[in-house]
Amino acid sequence: MSSDSAVPFHRSPIIVGFGGACVDILAVVAAFPKPDDKIRSTNLKIQGGGNAANALTCAARLGLKPRIISKVANDTQGRAALEELEADGVDTSFFVVSKEGCTPFSYIIVDSQTKTRTCIFTAGYPPMIPEDLSRDSLLSALEGAKLVYFDGRMHETALFIAREAFCKNISILVDAERPREGLDELLTMTDYLVCSERFPQAWTEVASLSRALVSILLKLPKLKFVIATLGAKGSIMLEKCFDDGRQIEEVDVDSSLESLTKQTDDSIATPTCIPSSVTKFRAEGIGSVCGRLYVGTAEKIPPSELIDTTGAGDAFVGAVLYAICKNFSPGKMLPFASCVAAAKCKALGARSGLPYRRDPCLASFSL
Ligand SMILES: Nc1ncnc2c1ncn2[C@@H]1O[C@H](COP(=O)(O)OP(=O)(O)O)[C@@H](O)[C@H]1O
Ligand SMILES: *[C@@H]1O[C@H](CO)[C@@H](O)[C@H](O)[C@H]1NC(C)=O
Ligand SMILES: *[C@@H]1O[C@H](CO)[C@@H](O)[C@H](O)[C@H]1NC(C)=O
Repeated sequence: MSSDSAVPFHRSPIIVGFGGACVDILAVVAAFPKPDDKIRSTNLKIQGGGNAANALTCAARLGLKPRIISKVANDTQGRAALEELEADGVDTSFFVVSKEGCTPFSYIIVDSQTKTRTCIFTAGYPPMIPEDLSRDSLLSALEGAKLVYFDGRMHETALFIAREAFCKNISILVDAERPREGLDELLTMTDYLVCSERFPQAWTEVASLSRALVSILLKLPKLKFVIATLGAKGSIMLEKCFDDGRQIEEVDVDSSLESLTKQTDDSIATPTCIPSSVTKFRAEGIGSVCGRLYVGTAEKIPPSELIDTTGAGDAFVGAVLYAICKNFSPGKMLPFASCVAAAKCKALGARSGLPYRRDPCLASFSL
């Protein structure tokens, strides 16, 4: 098994990501405009975006060699998106570039007062279809891969890739923002799930977040863990453990989460992680699952340093991809991912703040 730090860069595990790549046009405003207002920006940035492209950029800066599968058009934006990914060390040789059409892009309004980011997304054309990828090219993309990641977009092609990865026994990580077409089948093949705060309840129709996490582990027997990211409140992770027949005490999952949350210390600025012991978590009316629950705190960023949360979730996922490849324990992975996401939040756009492996902010993780 590889240790955390001994793997030389050129032998870093290969990961493959499939999903969105686009161009973001970010305008920072002092206050969000009203309809028909004419206002000035205080800062403007044009930068590559898209969930998968952002997360893989993050993983590349940390030292992985990611391959991206996505689609852009051969226009100015598309060429810029590819160049930027290449410059960051993401392998774009499996990109589909259509001669005609247009590359997807997002207008993003960053309100520096309320610290919100409002996105207006325009899908690319023509949309990606499984026929865009030959089976040969897919097989070369997956060659030697340790992990395949999906951002949940473009489900038909995602499923085409996931079925192949599944047959090859390559682990699958999915980032789920909300229930989408095709996601259910993708989730049945998923090993690691990272999702938004609202996803667990939206997908399971269960009334509390912690019970919804139990329900997710019960519905998806292949899943090893689920993490919900909660913005400035941090993250919660439920990891499945194998019930070895020992008599494990059954505990209500809502009260477990409450008691772990109480143990977090508000005076610590750096991200922390409070683990439960291996427990049989009971979700009222749903069932029970053997596992460990972790409460991760986010970094406490001073308001003057909090610039933009665009892509915070993508940075978190990029760091989780790295942590899985390097066999980090959950107790190291959650603070690490929160640290990486916090660094991202201190600069404008989804990528400017993404830290490199040697960044002082990551020194305590001995990468
Ligand atoms: N305001 C913030 N302060 C500190 N960390 C943050 C903040 N917003 C996001 N993060 C970090 O980024 C992670 C993902 O953020 P979240 O808002 O949940 O995702 P998304 O960008 O997908 O909406 C959080 O778990 C946290 O670690
Ligand atoms: C993109 O268009 C340019 C000309 O504008 C051409 O030289 C190039 O080969 C095209 N690339 C692809 C992948 O179609
Ligand atoms: C599949 O991969 C897992 C590790 O990810 C390994 O433990 C298992 O033995 C593999 N199974 C097969 C059939 O190769």
